[in-house]
Amino acid sequence: MARSIGSAGLLLLCVLLQLTTDVLAQLSLPNPAFLPPNASWGAVPSSGGSPNPQWTVLLGDALYFYEAQRSGRLPSNKRVPWRNDSALNDGRDAGLDLSGGYYDAGNYLKCTFPLSFTLMSACWGALDFGKGYDVTSQTAYLDDMLRWGLDWLIKAHPSNSTLFVQVADPDYDDAYWGGDQNIPSGRPSYQVNDTNPGTDVAAAASAAFAACSILYSNSSSYNSTNSSIPFSRASLQNGTYSQTLLSHARALWDFASEHNSTLYQDSVPAVKDTYPSSDYRDDYTFAALWMSWATGDAVLYNQTLDMYNNFQLGNPDNGLDGAFNWDGKVPGIPVLATQIGTMMQEQWQGYYDLGAWQSQAETYLDGVVNGEGRAKTTGGGLLYYDGDSDEASLNPALNAAMLMTRYAPMASSQQKKWAYQTYANSQLDYALGNNPMKAPYVVGVNPNSPQNPHSALASGGNDISHIDTVPEQEAYVLYGAVVGGPDKHDKFWDIRSDWPETEVALDYNAPLLALAAAHAMNDTSDPYYTNLQAGAYSKPKYHPCDAAFDCGSKLSTGAKIAMGVCLSVAGLIVFGLTAYWLYLNFGNKFPSYDGVNRA
Ligand SMILES: *[C@@H]1O[C@H](CO)[C@@H](O)[C@H](O)[C@H]1NC(C)=O
Ligand SMILES: *[C@@H]1O[C@H](CO)[C@@H](O)[C@H](O)[C@H]1NC(C)=O
Ligand SMILES: *[C@@H]1O[C@H](CO)[C@@H](O)[C@H](O)[C@H]1NC(C)=O
Ligand SMILES: *[C@@H]1O[C@H](CO)[C@@H](O)[C@H](O)[C@H]1NC(C)=O
Ligand SMILES: *[C@@H]1O[C@H](CO)[C@@H](O)[C@H](O)[C@H]1NC(C)=O
Ligand SMILES: *[C@@H]1O[C@H](CO)[C@@H](O)[C@H](O)[C@H]1NC(C)=O
Ligand SMILES: *[C@@H]1O[C@H](CO)[C@@H](O)[C@H](O)[C@H]1NC(C)=O
Ligand SMILES: *[C@@H]1O[C@H](CO)[C@@H](O)[C@H](O)[C@H]1NC(C)=O
Ligand SMILES: *[C@@H]1O[C@H](CO)[C@@H](O)[C@H](O)[C@H]1NC(C)=O
Ligand SMILES: *[C@@H]1O[C@H](CO)[C@@H](O)[C@H](O)[C@H]1NC(C)=O
Ligand SMILES: *[C@@H]1O[C@H](CO)[C@@H](O)[C@H](O)[C@H]1NC(C)=O
Repeated sequence: MARSIGSAGLLLLCVLLQLTTDVLAQLSLPNPAFLPPNASWGAVPSSGGSPNPQWTVLLGDALYFYEAQRSGRLPSNKRVPWRNDSALNDGRDAGLDLSGGYYDAGNYLKCTFPLSFTLMSACWGALDFGKGYDVTSQTAYLDDMLRWGLDWLIKAHPSNSTLFVQVADPDYDDAYWGGDQNIPSGRPSYQVNDTNPGTDVAAAASAAFAACSILYSNSSSYNSTNSSIPFSRASLQNGTYSQTLLSHARALWDFASEHNSTLYQDSVPAVKDTYPSSDYRDDYTFAALWMSWATGDAVLYNQTLDMYNNFQLGNPDNGLDGAFNWDGKVPGIPVLATQIGTMMQEQWQGYYDLGAWQSQAETYLDGVVNGEGRAKTTGGGLLYYDGDSDEASLNPALNAAMLMTRYAPMASSQQKKWAYQTYANSQLDYALGNNPMKAPYVVGVNPNSPQNPHSALASGGNDISHIDTVPEQEAYVLYGAVVGGPDKHDKFWDIRSDWPETEVALDYNAPLLALAAAHAMNDTSDPYYTNLQAGAYSKPKYHPCDAAFDCGSKLSTGAKIAMGVCLSVAGLIVFGLTAYWLYLNFGNKFPSYDGVNRA
């Protein structure tokens, strides 16, 4: 375990470092530090064992990505050598210190709604598959990753009913393409409050705080006592920190309850072009579940089924037949409710109807496995929702795989257990290279990994009109970053400006954390990509046809930007201005799209 690695000297050094830097992991970090091996290492099959060294590196890399995304003043023991202090004046316009936290994606915005989803997801995964972090000595890095986000979220919640929901103006930020030393200043901070509330974002932040307070709690009542439910928390418990997180969770839950029917973009128009929320009812119900577990409130837990029913969340049109992501929480609700119900079976007897939740969870999961409703599968086997998957196609698939891996041990029959675990593995294998492109869609893990993630930080370029060619080769390897993913025909072009396929984001990596931890716990065989030797991937013909690339039909520039804005709901920051520049600069350069790729 990470905790036991430090010698007395190292501990002392850590204590000193803690006094001299803003934020540091509370657990002592491994010495020597975990650093990602180069991509060729991922083409050498391991000799197995447990934990499997290839899964260990994948989990380590997935966490390392978050370190590359850090904003603010970086500690002296930073692992990403090419990152610098940045955006130190965030929050000044509001008289606050809102420096720190994470850059959301390939640009320099800081966005509370998807950050909250990411932290909730990371803590949920570490509650269930925590042993995966422990056995690979990644727990201290997990602690570090979580605190970097949670400590910022605490600063963004300076009073009970004030929550900062975004830093930087998307129109302005998207016009900048360059490194972390010249980020344009004048980064406004946007808040919700009593006069301009946001049920969705307050509930989402409450859920993140509550989930993480459970993970950090020093009470053993959160440990699974049922041996058929193999959940295990990562060993980073700290009762003081847990209490701090819980107090923020409570205040935000009260705030969301007082203003229980508002969308935050109606209060803060600046988020309309980044992460507008399509509903608040899912966020509210999901947060109620997390709060009931974190506070041990059986009555609230019992009420969540009424909420779910009154809000008609079980109606496929309200999200049960759709993706689980930063905007759509519905599929996670019955899975979490089943988990809580199962774990609290003895304490909360008679307080709920576990069967009702289980049946909702299985309605969703069976729909995905059987390809019913909106859940489609590409020719190569990727779960695909028209619309939701048109940008960042891997995200709905990996999130479904994460929910299934978690739910499988609680399934109502052996056959379902098997079906869910098999399906989950198929999606993860696809993401890790078992796909028609023979590309593992995680940067730096194999020679066939993407070379051109859409990331202003990593690119090394500063010419927004020549994102793809300046520089020819991306300056830094963004190890561990999950990219958006292929199109619905399983094609992936690896073009830097093609943000629907190549952008990186905090929430894209979140399900990989849980899945890699789950495999690190149990799986002695390698991740799929060790089968793939250099040269297996080759760029397809023609060019993408998506929100960043003209398909050949003569869309006007205005229509192009408008399309980007509408599509942002599916999960990515709109890169409208870049799309505009690309259109001007590359729009006519590529052979016109001839429809070859259409189904
Ligand atoms: C627990 O967390 C608190 C708050 O972050 C920190 O001050 C303290 O040092 C931590 N305790 C241990 C034992 O890590
Ligand atoms: C990758 O790392 C190995 C040792 O871990 C080294 O032998 C090899 O030269 C490196 N390859 C590249 C391309 O840097
Ligand atoms: C950090 O600073 C160094 C030294 O100036 C520079 O080479 C590097 O590109 C910077 N990193 C980023 C992400 O801009
Ligand atoms: C409340 O939030 C709105 C919307 O972000 C903002 O315009 C207003 O200034 C805030 N109120 C206070 C008192 O800060
Ligand atoms: C249960 O939780 C406590 C935290 O109170 C932790 O210290 C302990 O290791 C856990 N036990 C198991 C078996 O996971
Ligand atoms: C848990 O942490 C709290 C706050 O630090 C402390 O008061 C309490 O004694 C701890 N309980 C256990 C069982 O360690
Ligand atoms: C803030 O919220 C907490 C928890 O909901 C509550 O206990 C506290 O009294 C509130 N503080 C103020 C100043 O309203
Ligand atoms: C929302 O608030 C209203 C007014 O305070 C209250 O009547 C209603 O029960 C609340 N709804 C939920 C789901 O909490
Ligand atoms: C749980 O909720 C149901 C439906 O609202 C209610 O009939 C039942 O009495 C509640 N159970 C408890 C123990 O509060
Ligand atoms: C343990 O969990 C399984 C699966 O949900 C369940 O069937 C069983 O009743 C549980 N056992 C106890 C003692 O709670
Ligand atoms: C993983 O290993 C644990 C013991 O470490 C075991 O309880 C659990 O059933 C295994 N899970 C799977 C999915 O094989």
